[in-house]
Amino acid sequence: MATTRSAAQGILADDHTETREQIVEMLKKAYWMEIETVMSYITNSINPDGVRAQEIIESLQQDIQEELGHAQQFAERIKELYGVVPGSMEFTAEQSYLQPPEHQTDIVHVIKGVIEAETGAIEHYNAVIEFTEGTDPVTNDMVIAILRDEEGHRRLFEGYLREYEAEGKA
Ligand SMILES: [Fe+2]
Repeated sequence: MATTRSAAQGILADDHTETREQIVEMLKKAYWMEIETVMSYITNSINPDGVRAQEIIESLQQDIQEELGHAQQFAERIKELYGVVPGSMEFTAEQSYLQPPEHQTDIVHVIKGVIEAETGAIEHYNAVIEFTEGTDPVTNDMVIAILRDEEGHRRLFEGYLREYEAEGKA
């Protein structure tokens, strides 16, 4: 049986091992951000109380599935780049701003926390896009599509916040 030859061009080429490993590390960070966002959105789609909370609850319920899909895409890409998707023991939580508020009717706390999480994702994904520009078009393309989802989420929650601010509650 003939041995397979490794890719001569592109991000899978031996020459690009170092760049590839750097991309894998960025993808791992992105993967954990998505996983933590799933956890935080489950929490914050269930805890809030009150009539006004329903809009936020429904919105976050939908986002959970989308963020989970992002996590799966990042994990797939880690494997495609010869990385290993990390196990749960490697996880470190960072979303201090999305912990349950003191009062479960404090919807503004949740809205601001979501905006903070989306902003963090947007910053990191822009960095991934910049780094993969010209070196890894597949990751580049994938992260551009995910970035659009995050920008959409942030815009939606900025709209919620504006409404509360207009009422003098934020
Ligand atoms: Fe996401």
